[in-house]
Amino acid sequence: MTSNIAFVDLMSQQHKADPFPYYAQLRAEAPVHKTMIHGIGDVWLITRYDDVVAVLKDRRFAKDPRNAGRRVREPEEWEIKIMSNNLLRYDDPNHRRVRGLTAKALKRCGIEHLAGRIAAVTDELLSAMAGRSEADLLHDFAHPLPLIAISDLMGIPREDHDKMPKWIEQATSPSGPPDMVILSEFLRYLQRLTERRREDPQDDLISALVAAESDGDRLTPDELVATATALIIAGHETAVNLISSGAMTLMQHPDELEKLKQDPGLAASAVEEMLRYSAPVESATERFAVEDAEMHGAHIARGDLLLAVIASANRDAEIFVDPDRFDIARTPNPHVAFGSGAHYCMGAPFAQMQAEIAFRKLFERFPAMTIAAPSDRLPWKQMPILRGLEALPVRF
Ligand code: HEM
Repeated sequence: MTSNIAFVDLMSQQHKADPFPYYAQLRAEAPVHKTMIHGIGDVWLITRYDDVVAVLKDRRFAKDPRNAGRRVREPEEWEIKIMSNNLLRYDDPNHRRVRGLTAKALKRCGIEHLAGRIAAVTDELLSAMAGRSEADLLHDFAHPLPLIAISDLMGIPREDHDKMPKWIEQATSPSGPPDMVILSEFLRYLQRLTERRREDPQDDLISALVAAESDGDRLTPDELVATATALIIAGHETAVNLISSGAMTLMQHPDELEKLKQDPGLAASAVEEMLRYSAPVESATERFAVEDAEMHGAHIARGDLLLAVIASANRDAEIFVDPDRFDIARTPNPHVAFGSGAHYCMGAPFAQMQAEIAFRKLFERFPAMTIAAPSDRLPWKQMPILRGLEALPVRF
């Protein structure tokens, strides 16, 4: 499809602050649009809801670039191998196998027992801000809460929690190659922890992953490290973004915030609307075309890279009434913030539980909290795939 779409830098502050007008234009004029992302190269942006869901469900769009005929250099370092071999990079049959074992572990370990601990950590973090006139809600609340939550779920001993921020930062660093010393420290730590849990199982997800078995099949030692790493990485920054952007959105919509304060029973539906509206994950991770395909007049060639833009699908007027309105009681709300198809988020119930507790307690404790900066001055992280604030100054 030919069009006159101006180039937009998808990692710029300007785009991250308000990506929605650009995506509205693409949905209307160029629903399958080729652009370029610095450090990644050419990509097709898929922006209509139905197409996003179709691409995420269609096995002709693979996760593993080798299945789309791309030549990939096999990494030599163990650390890079671990980082580039996890269920988010697999296609079937290995994806089904590893996801099945991981799902068994999640089911066995459960998440409900963590609600009390998450509520207690939330209270602690809020108490630490009480008495101050200002705070950075990202640094003081939205970042530490999911970090402690995912660490507890995995079974990272409390005395090691303070090492996690540095480790996660290196493992997710969007700017250039990671510091191999720090990355190695993180992965070897997880490797030792899986070994310890094999000897002495506890009531945590790492022990459940070690024990997960299906017809005699189990995760190999390297798969255990890779799956634990994937869960930690997929489960931390996404939740940070939801809590910080969600809080920002609520404060920018005082009428909706007031509704939530009046009726805390709306917390679950408010979280769904924050997931839809604030786009903590801007697009699903890469897909590669296994074969040539035609979509809306665009010719996608085998091997091409596609991004299914979740932030755009969730604002599609064909699906959502008044899609740019933030409505915490929206029903139905069939958002795709957790993806769709085979790679649908495995941590959705855990993320929803955390966010509900976080928002309920946050605005109970600080009902008069406001953003302490003009909305257009808030700094956004310049990274692909995810969309999140770098800081959220607030006044109580
Ligand atoms: C607000 C929070 C979260 C959001 C918005 C979110 C969103 C997503 C999305 C969109 C995908 C699909 C990616 C794709 O198809 O390319 C995904 C996959 C995944 N998520 Fe989440 N996620 C969140 C929290 C979590 C948490 C807390 C965990 C772990 C406890 C988690 C674990 C995973 C895993 C393991 C996958 C890969 C599944 C697979 O490849 O089969 N996520 N998530």
